[in-house]
Amino acid sequence: MLATLSGDPLRGQLLYDGEEPTASGDVLGCMGCHAGGQVAPLTEGTWTRWDEERSREERFATYSFEQYAVESILLPWDYFVETYPQFTMPDFYPEQLSYQDLADLLAYLESQDQLP
Ligand code: HEC
Repeated sequence: MLATLSGDPLRGQLLYDGEEPTASGDVLGCMGCHAGGQVAPLTEGTWTRWDEERSREERFATYSFEQYAVESILLPWDYFVETYPQFTMPDFYPEQLSYQDLADLLAYLESQDQLP
């Protein structure tokens, strides 16, 4: 389904930052945890960390970035990034995100290839 959609990184950023509601009318708090890198991995460099670290882990050998990011958002308790607290990221995003919302978030995260 996602492969048939094209994501808009700008709208993805507005969703991520809570400046625009999702299709369901929810305001996302991604930024609240992911800014600063204390509570959760820093938004900046998300794609680079995938490319240089996570994608080299055995369990993600067959994953694309899109698959990794979708599971990180929809099934956040399936895998925990080391050194960050577990069971912290909310697991209610499947109820709040449309396919287009997800495609836009992915496009935004994919653009985060610059290191902090
Ligand atoms: C209450 C805090 C919190 C919120 C809100 C939150 N996250 Fe997270 N997120 C975390 C934590 C903590 C981790 C690292 C531990 C883990 O893997 O669950 C994480 C991990 C991730 C990862 C994997 C990062 C990496 O470097 O591999 C992605 C992608 C992600 N979150 C995206 C999102 C998106 C998109 C939203 C909003 C829809 C969001 N998060 C909302 C706390 C949060």
